Amino acid sequence: MAAINYPLEITYIIASVLFILGLKGLSHPESARRGMHYAEIGMFLAVVGTLLSGEIVSWEWIVSGIVIGSAIGTAMAIFMPMTAMPQRIAISHAFGALAAVLVGVNEYLVHTERAYSIMPALGFEVLFGALTVTGSLMAFGKLQDLIPGVPLTYKGQNVVNILLFFITVGMFVYLIFYPADTAVFFTMIALSFVIGVFLVLPIGGADMPVVLSLMNSYAGLAAAATGFAINNKVLIIAGSLDGSSGFILSIIMSKAMNRSFANILFGAVGSPKVDMAKLAEQRPINRFTIEDTKFALEQAERVVIVPGYGMAVAQAQYAVRELSEVLEKRGIKVEFAIHPVAGRMPGHMNVLLAEANISYDQLLEMDVVNPTMDTVDVCMVIGANDVVNPAARTEKSSPIYGMPIINADKARMVIVLKRSMATGFAGIENPLFYESNTKMLFGDAKNVLQELIAEFKKG
Ligand code: TAP
Repeated sequence: MAAINYPLEITYIIASVLFILGLKGLSHPESARRGMHYAEIGMFLAVVGTLLSGEIVSWEWIVSGIVIGSAIGTAMAIFMPMTAMPQRIAISHAFGALAAVLVGVNEYLVHTERAYSIMPALGFEVLFGALTVTGSLMAFGKLQDLIPGVPLTYKGQNVVNILLFFITVGMFVYLIFYPADTAVFFTMIALSFVIGVFLVLPIGGADMPVVLSLMNSYAGLAAAATGFAINNKVLIIAGSLDGSSGFILSIIMSKAMNRSFANILFGAVGSPKVDMAKLAEQRPINRFTIEDTKFALEQAERVVIVPGYGMAVAQAQYAVRELSEVLEKRGIKVEFAIHPVAGRMPGHMNVLLAEANISYDQLLEMDVVNPTMDTVDVCMVIGANDVVNPAARTEKSSPIYGMPIINADKARMVIVLKRSMATGFAGIENPLFYESNTKMLFGDAKNVLQELIAEFKKG
């Protein structure tokens, strides 16, 4: 039996505790930054511990990997905007899962004897790893508009997907009994890559948050399996934490969108059937100017701001805070209604509003604000679209049907600030814009808000 490497084991235990504290910290915006630091230190300890464990065969490869990886990571951190964070996360999952697949293949080819005896872990690792690689790349493509965001469907798709999955799992089971069959091993990996593509193909852009967290979960499970395969405890722990937290996040996201997993994964729906030409014909929009907006806000006692992805694009969070201060100085109550999938990543709006030092006490969750929406004098929708789309309540054919929304349309007046009549992420029209109590205020969120603040300052 190999001697226990106590310094390494202790380092791994400390790293694992830091990962757990990191996750705990991430459960609240106030402690999230601290949580990230804990996790970073944990990862640093895990890497250093592994490097000093005396098992390194070739430092050249390790150092080259660190240099190249650090260069890519640093460039991504510096140059990728916050609004592209989901794509960045998708790419990271793809890289992580690819690493798991490569480690698995290496184990299989180089440490053949050992690999055969641990086939359950190894097979699981490469199967989940491979489908996560292509699934995450597909999610990246959809988020980056390289692939159409609408669900891509064909007849018999679910049957094909389920068949493929069972064939692949069948190969996995076969390999547990006949691990030396190299052809089956590599065919299983190839099929897993194909499953990843097919899995995400029929899922619409609006469901991407759930796909991302699911991929997060799969990447974690693949990493945990890698830990079993190469007997690395910190990988098992970190992978399990990643896998389970990703799974919990997927459940939270599904609940926020009022969808079941099965519905998201297998319930691809076609294009929406909201007849906007008819809507536009029947109900033209009402346009508001800066002066109209100022007047309406001045008359209000309670204002609720609904921020969305457009606020992130315009980087308007500071202007939003300034406007809320201007209004509060005039005795107007200002609150923020936060939809769980507003923006492009979980907690996106919370992060931006926290960055602008907007107090957490002013942030209301959807369930809290909705029952009181009819007492809101002005609901100001800033760069949000899908999360306030009433079609989610009424249009059975809409891809977002059933997703809970912030009931902005129930407010006495709604002011929608965006640049045009363009659709949001789900690519569907929004009947809210045509309601009689809705006023459209067109322009870039930051510029318009700055003009509005200047107008208030004029007196
Ligand atoms: P969206 O529905 O994407 O709408 C954003 C709106 O912002 C657009 O209609 C756009 O209209 C406007 N906009 C863009 N740039 C602007 C600017 N500079 N100034 C003013 N307005 C601007 O956003 P949402 O309501 O936040 O909903 C989020 C959507 O993303 C949901 O469908 C959700 O499922 C999906 N999603 C969410 C996540 C997570 S986890 N949050 C991840 C992936 C996808 P104009 O072009 O006319 O300005």
